[in-house]
Amino acid sequence: MADPGFTRIASLRRAEDFRRHLSRLGLSLPFDEVALPAPASPLAQPLEADGLRAGNRFCVLPMEGWDGTPQGLPSELTERRWRHFGASGAKLVWGCEAAAVRHDGRANPRQLLIDASSWEAIARLREALVASHVERYGRDAADDLVVGLQLTHSGRYARPNAWDRPEPLAAWTHPLLDRRLPGPVRVATDDELDRLVSDFVCAARLARRAGFDFVDVKHCHGYLGHELLAAHEREGRYGGSFENRTRFLRSIVEGILAEEPGLRVGVRFSAFDLVPFRKGEGGRGVPEREAAGYTQAFGLLTGDMDEALADSREMLTLLRQLGVRWLCTSAGSPYYNPHVQRPALFPPSDGYLPPEDPLLGVARQIDATARLKAAFPDLVFVGSAYSYLQDWLPNVAQRVVGDGLADFVGLGRMVLCYPELPADVLAGRALDRRRICRTFSDCTTAPRNALPSGCYPLDAFYAGRPEAGALKAAKAALRG
Ligand SMILES: Cc1cc2nc3c(=O)[nH]c(=O)nc-3n(C[C@H](O)[C@H](O)[C@H](O)COP(=O)(O)O)c2cc1C
Repeated sequence: MADPGFTRIASLRRAEDFRRHLSRLGLSLPFDEVALPAPASPLAQPLEADGLRAGNRFCVLPMEGWDGTPQGLPSELTERRWRHFGASGAKLVWGCEAAAVRHDGRANPRQLLIDASSWEAIARLREALVASHVERYGRDAADDLVVGLQLTHSGRYARPNAWDRPEPLAAWTHPLLDRRLPGPVRVATDDELDRLVSDFVCAARLARRAGFDFVDVKHCHGYLGHELLAAHEREGRYGGSFENRTRFLRSIVEGILAEEPGLRVGVRFSAFDLVPFRKGEGGRGVPEREAAGYTQAFGLLTGDMDEALADSREMLTLLRQLGVRWLCTSAGSPYYNPHVQRPALFPPSDGYLPPEDPLLGVARQIDATARLKAAFPDLVFVGSAYSYLQDWLPNVAQRVVGDGLADFVGLGRMVLCYPELPADVLAGRALDRRRICRTFSDCTTAPRNALPSGCYPLDAFYAGRPEAGALKAAKAALRG
């Protein structure tokens, strides 16, 4: 693996080392020198909004494992991951993982599908998560545990039938992204989108029956919902004006709230975006050549973050009117600018070496969330992309929540290798440094090579599985 040439966070052992490193990067990332245990820690404070009460400020972000059955049912691996979510000690579980609302919307043939034949299995999965939380934290612990299910259609990234056969359903003809797909890219018709709205509402009804507290109507990472928000060039009822570009989101939210008034609706969205990147000289990421005139993104960041967030502010104003209170911010896409979405030292097999110190990517998402929280103080915000902070995650998280820059700190990759990090932090235990995510990206490289996701470097369970050998071989083949 090539050395990306950035200072390793693991080498920054003292607060002053971390502070000096931040100042070298010109970053003013908020952090407390000492991470406090409960009950003093801001991370230990409960939060109640819109009838949901979460007992602390740690949130598990949605993470798929590419380990369901071809029918979209969970496997033992899926259950293991969900049990870990429950054991983490986090009191908010945002979405668990993306579940497709119908077969053609699956991002891979192993993605969960929520429909009439699978919802009971997904209900049992939720029960397993809650049971593992209760086993660990006591009988009453479920009272302030909030669990949602993320609903999705993968749009241009759909591969429902074979992992190496894209079957895209795009929101519009994209000048830079269409050519990354092997064949013609089909654009969804207005009628198809109308039907898909009903599929989301139907899936939400099943999620409610399965016991979830809320559903997340996914609008991030380049999938269909997110792509529609940027459909300026699309003709018809779902393109052009803001009203049209948000018709899909609006109709789904209105449909769910009308049909399932007891179910809360959350939205995870890419608050800002960058142009698509590709591998440049020496393997480092560079913007696509033709990206200079590129404007067709939702929240395109070209310099000023406040300007980039204008799209998000407009959308949040609408969502607030609709009655949505719970939001989860992310950014960009794992497909066309992974360094923005999940900052990592080592790229996944379809990525590129980081074009910047990954801490810049972390700081960007923290900054964007803080600005949106300041503009919409009555909404609840979960922030993302904290895993790269590694040893310093608790210190930054504490300050972010303490200063009201976000309501919850969302954890993604860190939960795959070190699920109990929230519990350790709140109990005042020292972090187990051997289990801290060092962002090797194997959790992304594995599924890119048709293998289940998991932490192969640090989780002995995955390291001992036959897929670990296959992953090694796939990485070696790539190195040539
Ligand atoms: C293996 C893997 C699977 C993921 N699956 C989803 C998903 O299903 N839905 C989603 O919104 N984000 C997904 N993400 C993105 C994470 O939720 C999160 O935004 C990202 O990893 C950055 O947070 P982190 O720095 O804590 O890892 C996934 C990330 C990883 C690594």
